[in-house]
Amino acid sequence: MTAALAPLHRGARSALTAALAILAACGDNEPPPFEVAELMKPETCMTCHPTHYREWSGSMHAYAADDPVFLAMNKRGQADTAGALGDFCVKCHAPLAVQLGLTRDGLNLAEVPQWAKGVGCYFCHNVIDVQGTHNNPLLLAMDQTLRGGFRDPVRNAAHRSAYSPLVDADSPQSSKMCGACHDIVTPRGVHLERTFAEWQSTIFAQDNPQRHLSCGECHMISNTDVIAEDPAVSVKLRPSGRREHTFAGVDVALTAWPERPAQRAAIERDLAATVQAKLCVLPTNGGEITLKLDLVGAGHAWPSGAAHDRRAWAEVIAYNAAGEVVLSSGVVPADKDPEEISDPYLFGLWDRTFDERGRPAKFFWEVARVESQLLKPAVTVDRFDPRFDHSTTKSYPLGALRPDIVRVTARVLIRPLPLRLFDALAGDGLSPALKAELPTLELRGTALEWTPARAVNLCVE
Ligand code: HEC
Ligand code: HEC
Ligand code: HEC
Ligand code: HEC
Ligand code: HEC
Repeated sequence: MTAALAPLHRGARSALTAALAILAACGDNEPPPFEVAELMKPETCMTCHPTHYREWSGSMHAYAADDPVFLAMNKRGQADTAGALGDFCVKCHAPLAVQLGLTRDGLNLAEVPQWAKGVGCYFCHNVIDVQGTHNNPLLLAMDQTLRGGFRDPVRNAAHRSAYSPLVDADSPQSSKMCGACHDIVTPRGVHLERTFAEWQSTIFAQDNPQRHLSCGECHMISNTDVIAEDPAVSVKLRPSGRREHTFAGVDVALTAWPERPAQRAAIERDLAATVQAKLCVLPTNGGEITLKLDLVGAGHAWPSGAAHDRRAWAEVIAYNAAGEVVLSSGVVPADKDPEEISDPYLFGLWDRTFDERGRPAKFFWEVARVESQLLKPAVTVDRFDPRFDHSTTKSYPLGALRPDIVRVTARVLIRPLPLRLFDALAGDGLSPALKAELPTLELRGTALEWTPARAVNLCVE
């Protein structure tokens, strides 16, 4: 607009008002933006937002409907419920495909075009309303406007831009947008995945600008890049920078997929400072090792979300002067799940789920009851509130062995999925060979070594 007006004399301006109004109505004197069908394709964004595209392409949002575990589990769910599951799963894992009627149950995803699978750029950036708190109640405008956090976007030839607090990570409202898909209430009414509800209970969701942290503020860190590389317009560096779009969590692509090393590095970076650990060798209770875990980095429980499928645990190994192992817990071989090692002292962090008859539930549509065993987030800053200390401590009995102990190591590990899930889904097309792709990730910040010399008040942290 400004550029078009610049050569005109001031006096000519009012005479042109009527003509301008007409021009404005048909696209503000600029080439019309791309059709909605084009804007739905992430590849359309690649030319001007190459870094957003690259990071997103390796994310679990991009992989959500290609994930072989998802495909097999949805297939099994449809079979087990005689189709009653319907679009329950694909509504979050391929929401645009459901919206466009390209799939009803996710069983035909192989024929759905790639651009409509997963959680794409258009789906997040076209949201105009959040009509609930779980199971993806997001409403799209289905127009040519992409919403973001900027009130003064430079115009471009591809799309219109608009500010929306729902897609502004600095706005408390944006957590509702993420949260709407990051909370699952199953068809049986079980609140199985609770990341959004957990976040709402924390100090980060409180109406206090000093403490408030949205999902995006933690998960989409700012970089000092321009936000668009559009040669047709002049784009300046913004003080708030560009937000990372890797959406790193715990899951990794198990099959050939872009950006695997970068995604893995982002996951390890984010996990490193999530939990703080304190390891002690104490004379209490007849001699014991204690490991205290404090969730400091996350704005919800840990693990969170798919916490029934996560396997997080602490490994603790104590040695005597001869270098012999005198106590060990959580030493899990690569081919076993932590619950399989019959370890009476296992410090295992995941949601235990049970079916209607009280047996361990195999799949999530069978779950009738959840027993949560997760690290708890910070819910108060009041030191006198009993919930202020939200850490969890596990004790390992040593008895008379205590004086012999000269070294103890500890660390927290997490695997995205249990190995037994691959066996359970082998008949639904999931290759057991993919078990080998499953990483065991160490939370670097929890790796501790206790020796009498290092210990301060009998503890290291
Ligand atoms: C022809 C180049 C071009 C293409 C193609 C393009 N954009 Fe943009 N986009 C821009 C420019 C330029 C800006 C403004 C940058 C600024 O103001 O610093 C922008 C801004 C944005 C914003 C911020 C809007 C706001 O108000 O906060 C979002 C979100 C966005 N684009 C998403 C997308 C998505 C999603 C796609 C693909 C469907 C896409 N863009 C395709 C050039 C483009
Ligand atoms: C899961 C939702 C989600 C997906 C998927 C997503 N974005 Fe974003 N995007 C956001 C949020 C939230 C912001 C933060 C806006 C802010 O705080 O200014 C953002 C910011 C942006 C911006 C503004 C500049 C910045 O970095 O803050 C652009 C441009 C953008 N995204 C482009 C894309 C493109 C291109 C894709 C796909 C390749 C994509 N986004 C996928 C949620 C998403
Ligand atoms: C349309 C639904 C939807 C929206 C909106 C959404 N997500 Fe997701 N998100 C998903 C799905 C589905 C996955 C899991 C994909 C998989 O692992 O197969 C996921 C995965 C993730 C992961 C990786 C977790 C893992 O499995 O390791 C993170 C982190 C994440 N989302 C953060 C966000 C943030 C932050 C926002 C808001 C800016 C957001 N999401 C908005 C559906 C959504
Ligand atoms: C105070 C920062 C913070 C806030 C706020 C926050 N997260 Fe997280 N989140 C983390 C950290 C740290 C982790 C653990 C590291 C990792 O897995 O990336 C994590 C992990 C996750 C995971 C993977 C969990 C798992 O175990 O599978 C998802 C998904 C996720 N967050 C989504 C969200 C959503 C959605 C919101 C908002 C409702 C949110 N987060 C708010 C810091 C935060
Ligand atoms: C409300 C949205 C939503 C629905 C409904 C949903 N998912 Fe997800 N799914 C997610 C999100 C978000 C994640 C990432 C969770 C995390 O990391 O905390 C995820 C992760 C996954 C994963 C990878 C981690 C894991 O638990 O194995 C699989 C597989 C999966 N979902 C399968 C399914 C299947 C099958 C269904 C239907 C029975 C389903 N999902 C329904 C949002 C959804």
